[in-house]
Amino acid sequence: MKKILILPGDRIGQEVTNECLKVIDYFRKSCEIELSEDLFGGASIDVHGEPLTKNVLDKALDADAVLLGAVGGPKWEKLEHNLKPEKGLLTLRKELEAFANLRPGKVFPALINSSTLKKSVLQGTDIFVVRELTGGIYFGEPRYMKEVGGKRVAANNLIYNEDEIARVARVAFEIARKRKNKVTSLDKANVLEVMQLWRDVVTEVHENEFKDVELEHLYIDNAAMQVIKRPSTFDVILAGNLFGDIISDEIAELTGSLGMLPSASIGNKNGIYEPVHGSAPDIAGQNIANPIAAILSLGMLFKYSLNLGNISDLIENGVSETLNLGFRTKDIGNENTLTCTEMGDEILKNIDKLSS
Ligand code: IPM
Ligand code: MG
Repeated sequence: MKKILILPGDRIGQEVTNECLKVIDYFRKSCEIELSEDLFGGASIDVHGEPLTKNVLDKALDADAVLLGAVGGPKWEKLEHNLKPEKGLLTLRKELEAFANLRPGKVFPALINSSTLKKSVLQGTDIFVVRELTGGIYFGEPRYMKEVGGKRVAANNLIYNEDEIARVARVAFEIARKRKNKVTSLDKANVLEVMQLWRDVVTEVHENEFKDVELEHLYIDNAAMQVIKRPSTFDVILAGNLFGDIISDEIAELTGSLGMLPSASIGNKNGIYEPVHGSAPDIAGQNIANPIAAILSLGMLFKYSLNLGNISDLIENGVSETLNLGFRTKDIGNENTLTCTEMGDEILKNIDKLSS
């Protein structure tokens, strides 16, 4: 029996997670899954006064995998930093030691015209971002906002040790071996010591363990340009926490919409699966969100945490088929678009069709 903890979180997080639940329910006939659901992010703040309670954290540690919706919203933006919904997410990632965040940015052929980029540039694009997730500037100490001599001063610390860099680099190289065998590592080694260390360690891991994989280093500013100039030449992109956060939203636009990009966060314990998009308060409550990123994240859960690659493939093919048939949500289509619920139903129909 595999345990999955569902944390829908806030706003459209709840809407897209509902569509995932239908898919989980469908596969329950072929594998034993025990589900539990709990409050997380703003929804937890409203009831318990904190984004991640000890009880929910314990449940997450005890589960085989955690499926997340999204957290945050204007309602909680003014809270002190430590009490914000996002802090719950960061604590969960850290406590689960989920140091490698995998974000596959594949352009589905049916959506090649949905991006703002030209079809000729996008053709063949399939980028896999590996983002370091439990270190760097998100967690570096000291961090503060205080008053010094009558002026407000704030600081965060971008710090990595060599082990933190090496272990995520290994994940990127391993994944590249199963794909097109190329890793592009992003840094800012021309300005920051910590990024020089990043480049040195990635180079050493490559030299010592992965010489068969092609390695390219790019400065983050240049990379931000290159991924829209020549997206199809990238395979795996390896980046630290902050640069990885930024570049993955850029890559999402290549796929047509942020609503298309799933993610898996893996490391020393059980995995966390969540769409890359946020809680989208602007479209929440209207049943128009795109559930595809969430459903593809569930697909990654089956593959990475439950070792059921066949179900994962079925889910991805079900999504692909649904898109091929012309079904669209508002973010990726113009007319006759489906609601979030209808899109979930349509995908499930196609999964069922493909599995029989
Ligand atoms: C992401 C999000 C999060 C992050 C936020 C919600 C804390 O942007 O997963 O990309 O910055 O990591
Ligand atoms: Mg982000």
